[in-house]
Amino acid sequence: MLNFISVNDVKDIDALVQQALSFKANPFAAKTIGTGKRIGLLFLNPSLRTRLSTQVAAANLGMEAIVFNVDKDGWALEFTEGAIMNGTTVEHIKDAAPVLGSYFDILCVRTFPSLQNREDDYAEMVMNQFIKYAGVPVVSLESATLHPLQSLTDIITITEAYKETTKPKIVLSWAPHVKALPQCVANSFAQWINAWDKAQFVITHPKGYELDKAFTGNATVVHEQDEALEAADFVYVKNWSAYHDYGKIISTGSDWMLTNNKLSNTNNAKIMHCLPVRRNVELSDEILDGSNSLVTQQAGNRVWAAQAVLAEILKSM
Ligand code: CP
Repeated sequence: MLNFISVNDVKDIDALVQQALSFKANPFAAKTIGTGKRIGLLFLNPSLRTRLSTQVAAANLGMEAIVFNVDKDGWALEFTEGAIMNGTTVEHIKDAAPVLGSYFDILCVRTFPSLQNREDDYAEMVMNQFIKYAGVPVVSLESATLHPLQSLTDIITITEAYKETTKPKIVLSWAPHVKALPQCVANSFAQWINAWDKAQFVITHPKGYELDKAFTGNATVVHEQDEALEAADFVYVKNWSAYHDYGKIISTGSDWMLTNNKLSNTNNAKIMHCLPVRRNVELSDEILDGSNSLVTQQAGNRVWAAQAVLAEILKSM
């Protein structure tokens, strides 16, 4: 594996999941594979889980991890080729990325979309410019359109939780939120579940929240939440802002908050969310604190997802 930006960088999803579960059972099985290697974690946006789980994963592999909050502590970076830099940006990525590449063996980057300009966000300019100029492997810690470490974690968690031989029914259910959020987690989950091809996949959202078909593919889309939830084994709850009316909150849709009452038609569904979650807006307390919630297990699995990915990259260096 050279970079980890999307599911397209993964040859065999199940093998990566099994590697992650093997690390979960034995965290220090490859504790020297990263000895003498340094990993840079660059944050252009906030994080709790991604930052800490990747640091723990790197330490388990013997690597030194250095975190840099670019948004707070770095120079304002310019990403546009040929820019005349007489405005607010101070340093071009062409100059900064090779320097970072000389300090680190692997570079990890978190960058959120603007939600102002869909064309620019979906071109993934920030991530692509790091890949172009860093000269070392780049790992996405969430980009403008995707969150691959989260999606790998999600499949690890589903694999752990589902022991039947039939395909599980997985429902991605839009949830209300007070802020306009990126489509990354939903795009990425859809992309990975489609590539995994081991589930019956349904997406449910109010009209107007259609995602980019490049990621949802042939997933069934249902606008009635109750209908979508019928016989579900897993319900993945997530807010996203509109893709077509880009970055907008079309409706607050408070009736889309998932509650125990709505789960009565499911197959005793397990509930997932990437966190952070707005309690009693996206999901009710009763669900988050109930026995069917997988959210803590899911967030814990972020370590093993990151460790499996970093180990793959280290093996190919
Ligand atoms: N799920 C997730 O990416 O969490 P953080 O934003 O806290 O890293």
